[in-house]
Amino acid sequence: MKVVHTIKDLQAELTVLRAQGKKVGLVPTMGALHAGHASLVKRSVSENGVTVVSVFVNPTQFNDKNDLEKYPRTLDADCRLLEECGADFAFAPSVSEMYPEPDTRQFSYAPLDTVMEGAFRPGHFNGVCQIVSKLFDAVLPDRAYFGEKDFQQLAIIREMVRQLKYNLEIVGCSIVREEDGLALSSRNTRLSAEERENALNISQTLFKSRNFAATHTVSETQKMVEDAIEAAPGLRMEYFEIVDGNTLQKISNWEDTSYAVGCITVFCGEVRLIDNIKYKE
Ligand code: PAJ
Repeated sequence: MKVVHTIKDLQAELTVLRAQGKKVGLVPTMGALHAGHASLVKRSVSENGVTVVSVFVNPTQFNDKNDLEKYPRTLDADCRLLEECGADFAFAPSVSEMYPEPDTRQFSYAPLDTVMEGAFRPGHFNGVCQIVSKLFDAVLPDRAYFGEKDFQQLAIIREMVRQLKYNLEIVGCSIVREEDGLALSSRNTRLSAEERENALNISQTLFKSRNFAATHTVSETQKMVEDAIEAAPGLRMEYFEIVDGNTLQKISNWEDTSYAVGCITVFCGEVRLIDNIKYKE
């Protein structure tokens, strides 16, 4: 695997490979890689002749400066994992490489980006679209891989691709969890042992709510999750919404949609964790 730091070097490599007829898969990441990222990379390796994994902590998507500073940076370990997964290129640019001047572009995909994460993290999805569009322009991938863990992000990227007519396929990949159910996240390394135990209540509540939902209304299911998180030690819920998985708008009845998803964000101590569960698909 080659580690490349500039767009120019990456494009020089990809031009040669594309001329050999190879399809290019792109996996955008912010590093601190774990088995969740690895599942996306392995899927890309199995579906494309060339796989590029970008490792870049994108400053424009952090609305909290503290969160940006504390974000783990582990490029050497990341490269070892990527090598094991069979990636061809780790693209690890500097901030000035990706943002030689401030990016003033505004991406607006209302109502997808005004709810949930969009409401609680102003500017977050604008930053995500800025960097992902730059990566698409630099790499010109045939396919790009995103996790359902960031359910809203995936929906917004799909919409960006549709509106800007990017000639590529977005591949959504299922959530990878720890054996006990906690969704893998780069932020999990910041949890103390006690917080890690408390955090388990998030996925356990979501799993319970899936059974509960089979015999209860949307609002009863909503309340069951809210009550369970409130009763759990050390957790503070920011939001839980049961939405249509395509429009991300709240539903009132299960019959309102054929694709119902519950999206949750919970603070566990200082660490903000997100997760989601499909009720109907
Ligand atoms: P990051 O949080 O590093 O995640 C990179 C990709 O890995 C995302 O598509 C995310 O959904 C996926 N992912 C993370 N944890 C996962 C898990 N447990 N199971 C499955 N997939 C998982 O998301 C970002 O970075 C950034 O916003 C980015 C798209 C790279 C733009 O900067």
